[in-house]
Amino acid sequence: MRGLAVFWICVYLVRADRLETDQILSVQEGWIHEGRVSPLEEVELTFALKQQNIERLKEQLELVSDPDSQQYGKFLSLEEVSSLVGPSPLTEKVVQNWLQSHGVTSCLTVLTRDFLQCSMSVQVAETLLPGAEFHRYRREDQTLVRSSAHYSVHDDVTEHLDFVGGVLRFPPKVKEISRSWAGARRSVKGFHLGVTPSTLRTRYNLTDTDIGTAANNSQAVAQFLEQFYHPADLAEFMSLFARGFQHLTEVERVVGTQGGGKAGLEASLDVEYIMSTGANISTWVFTNPGRHETQEPFLQWMLLLSNMSSVPWVHTISYGDDEDSLSSAYMNRINNEFMKAGVRGISMLFASGDSGAGCWHKTKEENVFRPSFPASSPYVTTVGGTSFKNPFKVTYEVTDYISGGGFSNVFPMPDYQVSAVKAFLKGKPSLPPQSYFNSSGRAYPDLAALSDNYWVVTNLVPIPWVSGTSASTPVVGGILSLINDQRFLKGLPSLGFLNPRLYKLQGTGLYDVTEGCHLSCLDDQVQGQGFCAAPSWDPVTGWGTPNYPALLAELVKG
Ligand SMILES: *[C@@H]1O[C@H](CO)[C@@H](O)[C@H](O)[C@H]1NC(C)=O
Ligand SMILES: *[C@@H]1O[C@H](CO)[C@@H](O)[C@H](O)[C@H]1NC(C)=O
Ligand SMILES: *[C@@H]1O[C@H](CO)[C@@H](O)[C@H](O)[C@H]1NC(C)=O
Ligand SMILES: *[C@@H]1O[C@H](CO)[C@@H](O)[C@H](O)[C@H]1NC(C)=O
Ligand SMILES: *[C@@H]1O[C@H](CO)[C@@H](O)[C@H](O)[C@H]1NC(C)=O
Repeated sequence: MRGLAVFWICVYLVRADRLETDQILSVQEGWIHEGRVSPLEEVELTFALKQQNIERLKEQLELVSDPDSQQYGKFLSLEEVSSLVGPSPLTEKVVQNWLQSHGVTSCLTVLTRDFLQCSMSVQVAETLLPGAEFHRYRREDQTLVRSSAHYSVHDDVTEHLDFVGGVLRFPPKVKEISRSWAGARRSVKGFHLGVTPSTLRTRYNLTDTDIGTAANNSQAVAQFLEQFYHPADLAEFMSLFARGFQHLTEVERVVGTQGGGKAGLEASLDVEYIMSTGANISTWVFTNPGRHETQEPFLQWMLLLSNMSSVPWVHTISYGDDEDSLSSAYMNRINNEFMKAGVRGISMLFASGDSGAGCWHKTKEENVFRPSFPASSPYVTTVGGTSFKNPFKVTYEVTDYISGGGFSNVFPMPDYQVSAVKAFLKGKPSLPPQSYFNSSGRAYPDLAALSDNYWVVTNLVPIPWVSGTSASTPVVGGILSLINDQRFLKGLPSLGFLNPRLYKLQGTGLYDVTEGCHLSCLDDQVQGQGFCAAPSWDPVTGWGTPNYPALLAELVKG
């Protein structure tokens, strides 16, 4: 018996490879373990098949996003993306045979053929992925099925898969959107301004006629936490706050399942503000795609984009997780998905996060800053936050101390930002100690907007003092949509992946934010301070905040 056991262990070691060994396994805060899932229950897993020509995809993205290239704006259709990066026939065959040999036959694919989503019993899943052991977790009324241990795959398929989704990753910590108590305290002194659509339109220099008019323009917000927007809140918000300019009061299309129950502050905020700057532009909401206990909602949204040949031009997303908690295989693959969107002419805007530079207590003695992903991806446009210098007036903007920013520890600095970031580092700002960040990484955010003291209508009640980069991101999204609109009217293509062009502007068309620092580790060395804003680009507010007519003048050319 003993000999046999050793024999089987050897076979196991030889024939299977572990994937995503760098994915952290700890159960996220708030989830309560409910026990092992019974072998006959169904799980739905997502197989990320190895893509082809990723180097060419990257080159293509650089060409179509660089305003100085002949190829600028020559975007690909989803079908063309599919022929470029779709998995090889061998990859498809090997993965299919592997699944079939375990009796897994119920699979859906996407137009680009690089994802398979398959349902199977837990028993089958645990044999297919040696090491995996599925457990159920609960948080309030939400349940989740995940493996408590790393998984392996047969070594024949290792080189044909990036990862298997729905096994390890928990949804990121739900950070209740912040209500700014500083704002509340300030307002006690007397009249308080509070940000509404008209405040934003005044500050960013939008006239009442700066609204969308092009027939095919569209924008979207995507939400993955168990949050819903209510159409009645949007309508009330618009009637209370959106005066003087033409706007829509309804969402054009909801993709995914809108749950019942109470509206979420975050969900209301995103929709209400993208439709206030991007006024009269058709707006979609992607909501919680992936309701199955084993799915990863963010990943499901990426699958959806690869399965729809026509999607909105601008997407704004307030979602992120600690970069150090995610496997590099997963993050690199998500980057490929962002590149696929970019070559199609789609702009992806992510909130930079609400924890400043962040803090990772790496060991008892060592703290370092903590970048957030996808904010740290080189292939998205990341939006930071500001507040008014004088909270009682529409004045110039300074850093909002919560504004997420810093340097990736995983992704090298992309070429488009090298000179801007070098200039910042050389400008002798009072930098935090070198040991806290990696100055060779992708630096973010790319630009910013107001993120403090917003009015939001949720559950039919107007609520003040709502703050966070989840407010600034849809504001910038709506403004980019207005610029797309003017481009479409001139017969030009959409802006697509903005960063290469944004960095070439060197700040033209943006209000530079030069005051204030954001927060970081509360320890003796840095005492809660991360980076500080400075002239030109900085890792707190990027290039600054939009001055619409000036930015439009630059971006509506060619
Ligand atoms: C992708 O779209 C096709 C056609 O609409 C559908 O049959 C398929 O199930 C979709 N794939 C996934 C993973 O949902
Ligand atoms: C605001 O836009 C107008 C044109 O619409 C321009 O004349 C003015 O200079 C802009 N204001 C600022 C501060 O750039
Ligand atoms: C709003 O946009 C539509 C196109 O979606 C356009 O036909 C209409 O004229 C716009 N409204 C105004 C007031 O410009
Ligand atoms: C708008 O969309 C329709 C149908 O999808 C298409 O035929 C038309 O060419 C598009 N117009 C523009 C200006 O892109
Ligand atoms: C710094 O970032 C680079 C990528 O830009 C990475 O290769 C390197 O491992 C990082 N160093 C640390 C200490 O995280």
